Amino acid sequence: MVLVSGGAGYIGSHTTVELIEAGYDVVVADNLSNSDMSGVEGVRKITGVEVPFVQVDCCDKEALREVFKKYDFDSVIHFAAFKAVGESVADPMKYYRNNLLSMMNVVDLMREYKRQNIVFSSSATVYGEAEELPVTEQTPRQAATSAYGNTKQMCEDILRDAVTAYEGLKGIALRYFNPIGAHPSALIGELPRGVPQNLVPFITQTAAGIRECLSVFGNDYPTPDGSCLRDYIDVVDLAKAHVVAIERMIEGKNKAKYEIFNIGTGNGVSVLELVESFQRVNDLKLNYKIAPRRAGDVVAIWADTSLANNELGWRAERELDDTLRSAWAWEKNIRGIK
Ligand code: NAD
Ligand code: WQD
Repeated sequence: MVLVSGGAGYIGSHTTVELIEAGYDVVVADNLSNSDMSGVEGVRKITGVEVPFVQVDCCDKEALREVFKKYDFDSVIHFAAFKAVGESVADPMKYYRNNLLSMMNVVDLMREYKRQNIVFSSSATVYGEAEELPVTEQTPRQAATSAYGNTKQMCEDILRDAVTAYEGLKGIALRYFNPIGAHPSALIGELPRGVPQNLVPFITQTAAGIRECLSVFGNDYPTPDGSCLRDYIDVVDLAKAHVVAIERMIEGKNKAKYEIFNIGTGNGVSVLELVESFQRVNDLKLNYKIAPRRAGDVVAIWADTSLANNELGWRAERELDDTLRSAWAWEKNIRGIK
């Protein structure tokens, strides 16, 4: 059995589906601070399994303890965190408190209740503006430019130190690149609150007429078309990486108590290329304009995925075109657009 913290959210709900489809029992724990029950209900519909859900704040150790007492899971996938980079700069304590305390509580309770395996949601943000591309897991982390990014680095370190020190614990940090898209059923997907900060939800909301115009942040970067390059990873592929990471630890195939894997496609795609592809595959015209650069953006980053390919036996499979179709199908579904 696997405890999925933050399992009502975007990546957590997709991962819960893949875990169930791979035969795992799952319990979802989430405080619904950035989600609602639609994610869990979507998972139940897709899988036909009445996955148990507990509304709990992982920062509330005693409440979380009840989940550990009640459910006999051996593994945890820890998604529960706040993730808005800009908000974390404006209110860093909110991010340090939520993201660090929830991580520490999960690890403490895993020790206390003798639960063995943990996968942590890390991020390519830990690499900052890397000197060499693509980035490998050995590429040095750069000083974080946001409290959010700092919590990812600190949680990686907490996990490394804890699993190294404590017998019976193993951990894998997955560094996600840019997760996008939705489940092929269009029953679960990303539900941004307010104005989306990320590119793909902004694109789909613009196509749906909720936003007037997409701003492409900069076309004067030193890249082939002047816009930034990122490694956009399909959320279902990303979800599957969690299943193999859990399996690796359960089967004792991990080579160290703490391991790190990049989870991306290995391709750098520009903002303008992504916008063009979205229009082409969905046969629509998107209102967009070139706008000034966004403060804090890295110019280019994409993953060297050979470690995940070779060690986990995992690779990104879904074509970008299909992912962009799924993103639009999801947006249409939640907006009731035919
Ligand atoms: P999300 O906001 O959709 O999901 C996070 C879930 O955690 C939400 O349902 C939220 O209600 C819950 N949560 C937050 N704090 C909690 C707490 N204290 N107790 C219980 N539940 C809590 O975000 P997501 O995109 O699915 O991200 C999942 C994880 O992946 C996060 O840790 C995020 O930092 C990380 N990540 C996301 C991206 C991305 O671009 N989406 C990239 C890299 C890493
Ligand atoms: C992608 C590209 C923008 C919006 C962030 C976090 C990172 C990780 C993923 C969690 C950039 C451009 C965007 C828009 C645009 N999250 N853009 N117009 O910045 O790579 O990463 O999300 O860990 O930590 O920093 O993703 O989707 O915001 O931007 O032109 O309206 O799209 O400039 O080049 P980013 P993003």
